[in-house]
Amino acid sequence: MIKKRIIESVSKKSKRFSPSKIFRENAHIKSFEEYLKLYQESIENPDLFWAKQAEELDWFKKWDKVSSWKKTKLECKWFEGGKINISYNCLDRHLDSRGNKTALIWEPEVGKAKKYTYKELHKVVCRFSNVLKKYGVKKGDRVCFYMPMIPELTIGMLACVRLGAIHSVVFGGFSIESLKDRIIDSKAKILITSNASLRKGKSIPMKNNVDAILGDCKSLKKVVVVKRADDIDTFMKKGRDVWWHKEVDSNNIDDFCKAKEIDSEHPAFILYTSGTTGKPKGVVHSTAGYLMYTYLTFKYVFDYKEEDIFWCTADIGWITGHSYIVYGPLANGATTIMFEGVPTYPNPDRYWEIVDKYKVSVFYTAPTVVRALERFGKKWVEKHDLSSLRLLGSVGEPINPDAWMWYHQVIGKGKCPIVDTWWQTETGGILITPLPGAVDLKPGSACFPFFGVKASVLTEEGQKAKKGEGGYLVIEKPWPSMLRTVYKNPKRFKDTYFNKFPGMYFTNDGVKCDEDGYFWIMGRMDDVVNVSGHRLSTAEVEGALVSHGSVTEAAVVPMPHKIKGSALYAFVTLKKGLSGGIDLISELRNHVGFEIGPIAKPDRIQFTNELPKTRSGKIMRRILKAIAAGKEDVGNTMTLANPEVVKKLKKERLPL
Ligand code: WTA
Repeated sequence: MIKKRIIESVSKKSKRFSPSKIFRENAHIKSFEEYLKLYQESIENPDLFWAKQAEELDWFKKWDKVSSWKKTKLECKWFEGGKINISYNCLDRHLDSRGNKTALIWEPEVGKAKKYTYKELHKVVCRFSNVLKKYGVKKGDRVCFYMPMIPELTIGMLACVRLGAIHSVVFGGFSIESLKDRIIDSKAKILITSNASLRKGKSIPMKNNVDAILGDCKSLKKVVVVKRADDIDTFMKKGRDVWWHKEVDSNNIDDFCKAKEIDSEHPAFILYTSGTTGKPKGVVHSTAGYLMYTYLTFKYVFDYKEEDIFWCTADIGWITGHSYIVYGPLANGATTIMFEGVPTYPNPDRYWEIVDKYKVSVFYTAPTVVRALERFGKKWVEKHDLSSLRLLGSVGEPINPDAWMWYHQVIGKGKCPIVDTWWQTETGGILITPLPGAVDLKPGSACFPFFGVKASVLTEEGQKAKKGEGGYLVIEKPWPSMLRTVYKNPKRFKDTYFNKFPGMYFTNDGVKCDEDGYFWIMGRMDDVVNVSGHRLSTAEVEGALVSHGSVTEAAVVPMPHKIKGSALYAFVTLKKGLSGGIDLISELRNHVGFEIGPIAKPDRIQFTNELPKTRSGKIMRRILKAIAAGKEDVGNTMTLANPEVVKKLKKERLPL
């Protein structure tokens, strides 16, 4: 049986899936040769390539220099000397040609959907820009968002970039403690939040919770509150808190706000993300390079057509939502969907219902969603007409071949290519991906680098890895949407991304390239874990556990999980005299939820008197990872000061 499964999985792995003739003929890039030719051009003569692409955007003033890279200073610049505005490119420039086309469809969890044409979106963005102006927001000021998936989030972000204000969106599922850290780090002037978020038909207070941290956020001058639910009594502090609807609908606010001419390299936004150590880092993205790259990847990776209805299911609190719900689609003049709810409420066919309702043609989601919905069976899919779909996408973690096949056969009915897109918060846009009309797909492989991306696999010593040999994924040269720095922390920028292989961008992902040049991403090599496609740092979860009064030490490692991809497994030692039980487990989980957010709660907590350590006192996480995964062979334990602990930990391991 096992042998048969292996043979099947190998043959699935090596099987290739070609796009249909019709798909190929209608695609922007129609053959592998065409992709290769353009790719070569983009690598051999990048400035020429990017200058040509940049002509597709609207500029107030064209650039003097396409790109520059000062390796010693780690300073990369794109389209220097140019002046442009992201909001203008996402809205104003479409008004003549597609003013009445739907720009944004908002599907609430329950209730009536809202649609905004380009004209309508432009108007409300302008009005909100004027509100921000009224409160003194200027170019360079930071504006923080802590919101559920409601249209005001998209509107607010576009209003910020219209003025050159720098937005910092904090995922609504993070705790208010996390929000506080991010507001303080970025010294945000304004916070935009909601009085409630909706979950499974219930209103959950948001603004009232946020109040607890506002006293510590000295930089904040105003809090703008969207009224998402009427059934919540919302406390509003006089002079500080204002209602979004009252401000935006006020008679004194103008329908038009001129988009500011912004320097190409001016920061567009900060997005905090987890790293190996310490607090999350503020990834800073630029204006022109970011816009250029999200525009172009959206066009080619999703093979964008004017009549497409595009749906990316990510939350805007993550980079995927920034780049492929908001900026990439709108810069192309596309119709983009924003969904407030979850895939399983009220039933596990919610996503397929939406695809059917809006005749979605391009659908972009995460493998964890595919696996979760596969579990409910085909019957939920078959209730709906999915014939509008022509292309599927995957992002956030490696997609296992079985999930790939289900996605391909059951959702795509065998006719939709799947673009498995590899990228990161730091990369701004998709870096490794098949172009769907040009590449034969291999399930589980992200295929080839996008135009202008010089990706390589390096060994520990910095040599190019051989075909089939695993190594570190690096990008040899900057691309337009590379992060520019870590907010207020250039040292961390250098140490995290450019120290391991000087001058090259280090991704922290493991990868191998097969004999045909296909890239196979193997996952993080550092202490970052993707849990249900959400990026978390084990070090941060450890920090949260240790901040609880009863914990002495904690080690958190990923363990394989059928649906989530990875789950968190924590080994915890308690203060003398304390013993762990069910109550303490739930208290610790809640504590992590309070410190970071519910998504970071460990699935398993195992108490132990000791952790395996080297003689110099370093916790051996490698061994703990093997134990959590239920491996018999946990590797070399010779260097441990306390090897006997391994046996005990193995015996007491908590299976999923
Ligand atoms: C992982 C999400 C395999 C990877 C856009 C990366 C993937 C991390 C893929 C970044 C993929 C993302 N195949 N792994 N197609 N896409 N990853 O910053 O480990 O939330 O480093 O950005 O997700 O996560 P982030």
